[in-house]
Amino acid sequence: MTERLLVLGIETSCDETGVALIRASATPGLPPGLGGQAEVLAQALHSQVSLHAAYGGVVPELASRNHIQRLAPLSEQVMQEAGVPWRDLDAVAYTAGPGLAGALLVGASLGQGLAHAIGRPAIGIHHLEGHLLSPLLDPDASGLRFPFLALLVSGGHTQIMQVEGLGQYQMLGETIDDAAGEAFDKSAQLLGLGYPGGPEIARWSAQGDAQRFELPRPLLKRPTLDFSFAGLKTAVLTQVQKLKTAGQLNDQARADMAAAVQAAIVEVLVTKCRKALQDTGLKQIVVAGGVGANQLLRKQFNALQETDQIEVLFAPPHLCTDNGVMIAWAAALHLLAGRPPAMDSGFTVRPRWPLSTLSLKTS
Ligand code: KG4
Ligand code: ZN
Repeated sequence: MTERLLVLGIETSCDETGVALIRASATPGLPPGLGGQAEVLAQALHSQVSLHAAYGGVVPELASRNHIQRLAPLSEQVMQEAGVPWRDLDAVAYTAGPGLAGALLVGASLGQGLAHAIGRPAIGIHHLEGHLLSPLLDPDASGLRFPFLALLVSGGHTQIMQVEGLGQYQMLGETIDDAAGEAFDKSAQLLGLGYPGGPEIARWSAQGDAQRFELPRPLLKRPTLDFSFAGLKTAVLTQVQKLKTAGQLNDQARADMAAAVQAAIVEVLVTKCRKALQDTGLKQIVVAGGVGANQLLRKQFNALQETDQIEVLFAPPHLCTDNGVMIAWAAALHLLAGRPPAMDSGFTVRPRWPLSTLSLKTS
């Protein structure tokens, strides 16, 4: 009989409280670690965006307090919507790191407490592994095989990984300063476009001319697969100051600058991934993390499928940003593969946790 697992996933690493219940099952014939599919029975997401908007970024203490208020009711809501009693769960998964220490502890406390109460395993999941594996939720991903490449682009991370197997992630390149999402967020803040900056920059770009302002593409021509986005932010700051001094920071200038920022970030990300594919000879890449929701990025990667005969897989846009589904799914894939998850006991969270060390057992 096909194994079916009911897994509750809890995500509280930053400014979203995400909870989801999935039913995962093994797909015969696929390699361990890839051989699963999932049905989302219920999910809930509470965004703290309005709470932090006034500060232009996430305030850690406010984030933790809000998770405390929201997490238990959201979890109950999800179980009720799915009509599943707590004791039927096979495992409770929570984000164990990286992220904000206080926020992580809220999810870890509830996850561990719940799991103990029903006598099921509590599984601490690496947040970036959750992102990385989320494109595999798409039935189109059934042709994916190890090894493949992964671009992880979130608010705090920009990494190109070679995925050798489930839990085996080798870093090929990463940002040496700001993350891509951070570059979106900081540029939006400089332009006065609101937080989080990625969706705002994308929205304003639609009315903008990306050619009007010239922005740098750091490390683009260098052989390295590392990224650097701090110089871009400085260039935006300089241009914005010039516009302000000239009394020309109007909506058109904002839209044009937003389009230039988006074009610069996307070009750097796509060019480096193209190089990584060429260097490794791999033909498949998954793109994951909040910035993966960006439409221009998706368009340029899709164009690469034709020109470079490669395959690109994305998570659905609503699962690119933080959510509980990806945490439940990552845990389910580990369970279905019969592999012990990296953190399955204790009450530890790891605010800093390199994904490339995941195969090293931690407790
Ligand atoms: O993965 P995520 O939800 O949280 C972290 O783990 O950091 O990513 C959030 C980041 C933010 O920097 C946000 O501005 C960016 O993803 N983002 C976008 C878009 N949607 C979210 N960036 C560009 N275009 C988008 N449509
Ligand atoms: Zn994230």
